[in-house]
Amino acid sequence: GEPVGEGEGEARPAAADAELLERREQSFATVQEHYFEEPPRIERGWRHHLVDTRGRVYLDMLNNVTVLGHGHPALSDAVHRQWRRLNTNSRFHYASVVELSERLTRSLPDGLDTVFLVNSGSEAVDLALRLAWATTGRQDVVAVEEAYHGWTYASDAVSTSIADNPGALASRPPWVHTVAAPNSYRGRYRGAEARRYGPEAAERIAGLAARGTPPAAFLCEPFYGNAGGMPLPDGYLEQVYAATRAVGGLCLADEVQVGYGRLGTHFWGFEQQGVVPDVVTVAKAMGNGHPLGAVITRREIAEAYRSQGYFFSSAGGSPVSSVVGLAVLDALRDEELQANALDVGGYLKDRLRQLAHRHELIGAVHGSGLYLGVEFVRDRTTLEPATEETAAICERLRELGVIMQPTSDRQCVLKIKPPLCLTRDGADGFVAALDDVLTHGW
Ligand SMILES: Cc1ncc(COP(=O)(O)O)c(C=O)c1O
Repeated sequence: GEPVGEGEGEARPAAADAELLERREQSFATVQEHYFEEPPRIERGWRHHLVDTRGRVYLDMLNNVTVLGHGHPALSDAVHRQWRRLNTNSRFHYASVVELSERLTRSLPDGLDTVFLVNSGSEAVDLALRLAWATTGRQDVVAVEEAYHGWTYASDAVSTSIADNPGALASRPPWVHTVAAPNSYRGRYRGAEARRYGPEAAERIAGLAARGTPPAAFLCEPFYGNAGGMPLPDGYLEQVYAATRAVGGLCLADEVQVGYGRLGTHFWGFEQQGVVPDVVTVAKAMGNGHPLGAVITRREIAEAYRSQGYFFSSAGGSPVSSVVGLAVLDALRDEELQANALDVGGYLKDRLRQLAHRHELIGAVHGSGLYLGVEFVRDRTTLEPATEETAAICERLRELGVIMQPTSDRQCVLKIKPPLCLTRDGADGFVAALDDVLTHGW
């Protein structure tokens, strides 16, 4: 075969990168799409920057998984040391799996005291649903529209986003019931009216119980990710969790995107709503890109799984994975990244709002901390989504050295979720590039 990785990192002709893309199309299932029409070949990164093989440096405003930033030395050293020493699985007795479990439960309210370790967000959501089924002996689940929770059978069943799957709403299994996306910008209820989403969802849950199919669980992101980083209406989770518990269901919080300090104001998204879930799922940031996920719940809910047999995941909670989890939590704390998300995120949001005064296309700036969304509309009254414009703006931003992609069911929102080490300089660079594109065209 051909040498692999030879000359990696050296300047290379464009033709070689194009040929590599061709080989990707031949060997790698194309439903695993790639960003950009003409993607730069990126083989290196440092903090909130990415470097392509021609030496071009990009500002990474997109990689929410990489909370600590790219090329993190302490994380890399910890992984290296552990790989040299030992990697087994959680059926063995060793310290790191205990320490990681304790660190997770300590970060959560009392009662959320028991941890399962898995490898991804999809697995975490799948397991959370199975825990709800085992605990309640029921199967019906209430999910929220315009949401993404994963690709496994159960996590896909509760994923309703038509951006991820155009047939999503028509193809839900009969046990999945959806409630309206609590989108206060362009949903059925807007602005102050958005307080009606909570009671409406609560009524739906009571209705399911009345007709003999009380839900095992209500599942949603505690801060609305897929729609572009929008807070839920005040009181929403309080009302919906109360309705779910009143009919004996469990409340599941999917923290896969919003948890781990990204919101700046809170470490966990549900804290912003003043509620405590029964089951929390986390992944992405937890491993800074290493496959790591967790489900944290109450002891009696975890014990209910025994009726399904034992639980084992070959790599979930392995010594290497546990060391990664601990190193990420150490770095988040030592580098004060949640505080940085609050500071730089607040600064960035202000600057983006100022841009909205000069550029009609910006309909709204959503979000909190470094979980922001700039929504583009063709008309600020009709809110007609500027979908094609958003795609073109992202392509042009790439030419200007910024990595950005659209999100939401209408693909008209910039998905601003950079590594939490973003600096004010980095934020300024992003605003300048966006201002340039909106001023001079895309
Ligand atoms: C809210 C949410 N839940 C679950 C998942 C699935 O996580 P994973 O891709 O690690 O399987 C995602 C991934 O995008 C997500 O955003």
